[in-house]
Amino acid sequence: MSADVSSSLSASAPGFYAARLARPGAVLAPMAGYSDAPMRQLAAEQGALWTVSEMISARGLVMGGDTEKLNLGRPYAGEQGRAVQLFGAEPELLADAVARAEAWFAPAAIDLNMGCPVPKIRGKGGACLLQTPEVAYTLLQAMRAATILDVSAKIRLGWDTDRSVEVAQGLEAAGASLITVHGRTSRQRYTGEADWDAIARVAASVAVPVVGSGDILSAAAARQRQRESGVAAVMIGRGSVGNPWIFRALAGGHGGEERPSAPVRARTALRHAELQTQFYNDDTGRLTLRPLRKVLPRYLPEYPELHAELTQVVTVADVERALTPLLRDAELNDGAMQTGATATAAAEYAVSYP
Ligand SMILES: Cc1cc2nc3c(=O)[nH]c(=O)nc-3n(C[C@H](O)[C@H](O)[C@H](O)COP(=O)(O)O)c2cc1C
Repeated sequence: MSADVSSSLSASAPGFYAARLARPGAVLAPMAGYSDAPMRQLAAEQGALWTVSEMISARGLVMGGDTEKLNLGRPYAGEQGRAVQLFGAEPELLADAVARAEAWFAPAAIDLNMGCPVPKIRGKGGACLLQTPEVAYTLLQAMRAATILDVSAKIRLGWDTDRSVEVAQGLEAAGASLITVHGRTSRQRYTGEADWDAIARVAASVAVPVVGSGDILSAAAARQRQRESGVAAVMIGRGSVGNPWIFRALAGGHGGEERPSAPVRARTALRHAELQTQFYNDDTGRLTLRPLRKVLPRYLPEYPELHAELTQVVTVADVERALTPLLRDAELNDGAMQTGATATAAAEYAVSYP
């Protein structure tokens, strides 16, 4: 923070979230199996307000032998503006996990997962906490006391009915600096449509900023949802897979146009693969490009003829080969464009991802 800003603040400097919310933009959603370091890097480069890690087990951090090398938590070199999301159900464990996450992963803020509907997480936190919100409040308080960083929570509307206003108010009283609401109940999982009227009611019922999440697939939809619901920002998950440019469009840059040309997208898909192997430090790519097989075709939805090959890649060279025709075009157009650039539960989250 610059000296003149801090001297103009009488009490304390604004927390991370308040500072980031002073500018336009959208937030990259936590997505197990997707929002890993390479995806976060691409989103941050395109102007995401902040990003959120995949959820990390508090128990794993404290008692499971995890270290600062844990890929789910480890930042990429130079990463800033990333909240680390924890799940758990015991206050002492979460307080210890916050301390470890802070020491190991250099987060900008800590988020509590209250939305994961996966059966294995139930009873250990996640959306289960929506059935016993008073437990969630004690968790939030314990986390709040364990760090000077902002602590937030990400909820669904409720377990099977909408209790979001009550839960958000309880979390605010417990010390949450920000609340994200995914506009579905846990029972709904990913079916139906996110209820943005319910999200708007939460935004109107608490003083802390509320971030809205659910079914944002375009910058135009993001702007409309934000305007109509009164949220401080929108969060984008599935709509940003293979489309980090959605963050650029919302960061105040240009208006309607979100996606660059196919050659530029191909080059970014290749870069995603390169970042993947660099981050996971696996020269062969054998272990690490597999998770990208579901992501790469999303950079080029209008090229179905490339998808079969992209869903079988093993190495960066495979990706390059599959994208050769488009990459050649990218070279020709160079100069005109800029690319800008675990958990078992992860697999299950992905299963429920249409
Ligand atoms: C594959 C997948 C993994 C997810 N993992 C998490 C997670 O780890 N933590 C969390 O709070 N929400 C998680 N979510 C929920 C998203 O953050 C988001 O709230 C939801 O997908 C709705 O937003 P969208 O329509 O923009 O994707 C996940 C969603 C998907 C599809």
